Amino acid sequence: MKNIADHLFDILENSVKAGASEVKVKFSFSKRIFFCQIIDNGSGIISSNVVDPFVTTRKIRRVGLGLPLLKKTAEDTQGYLKISRLNKEGGTKLEFIINMFHIDAKPFGDLARVFLDALYSWPQMNLKLIAQNDFSIDVIMDTKKVKEELGEDLLYSSQIKHFIYETIKKELRAKGIDDQFGIESEKDNS
Ligand SMILES: Nc1ncnc2c1ncn2[C@@H]1O[C@H](COP(=O)(O)OP(=O)(O)OP(=O)(O)O)[C@@H](O)[C@H]1O
Ligand SMILES: [Mg+2]
Repeated sequence: MKNIADHLFDILENSVKAGASEVKVKFSFSKRIFFCQIIDNGSGIISSNVVDPFVTTRKIRRVGLGLPLLKKTAEDTQGYLKISRLNKEGGTKLEFIINMFHIDAKPFGDLARVFLDALYSWPQMNLKLIAQNDFSIDVIMDTKKVKEELGEDLLYSSQIKHFIYETIKKELRAKGIDDQFGIESEKDNS
């Protein structure tokens, strides 16, 4: 996995495989620390040891690599990965921190593309993307609303697709997130 976007795609794919219909991605980016929390309403993780590369529901290749690789990406920067079951019924909560100032940090990559791909590849799943900081919580994208407001015809027009992509990209940039290691904000320097 070259960048954080690749990791995020894997996490969302895991939620899809677990049958989730709702996924909430909450993040903050402050002083070059990227925090991300993903909560889904899927079947829920069964093993408490999912970051072991031999734990997988895959039928062909009997190793799951997504989570162990994310754990390494986070820990290489002195960050962490935590994953737990939400409750008895199911659901999964995953949290990770990556220090973007660390020499071993991977670049963000195209996060907007990941959210766009999720919207179009998995129409059965509603995805909410939320940016949080000390002062505010902003919903950057709520695919359920987007789907309801646009309807099928408009949703699949290439202009709309491009517009959604550019909008997410702009919102992420406003939070200091670019395709590389983030934009140094004035707050970082204070
Ligand atoms: N959101 C989730 N809900 C339920 N189970 C999950 C979730 N995320 C991961 N798991 C469980 O943890 C296992 C390991 O996940 P991981 O992403 O490391 O590997 P994988 O998805 O099986 O394979 P790969 O990511 O290499 O394609 C999965 O096979 C699945 O059983
Ligand atoms: Mg996976």
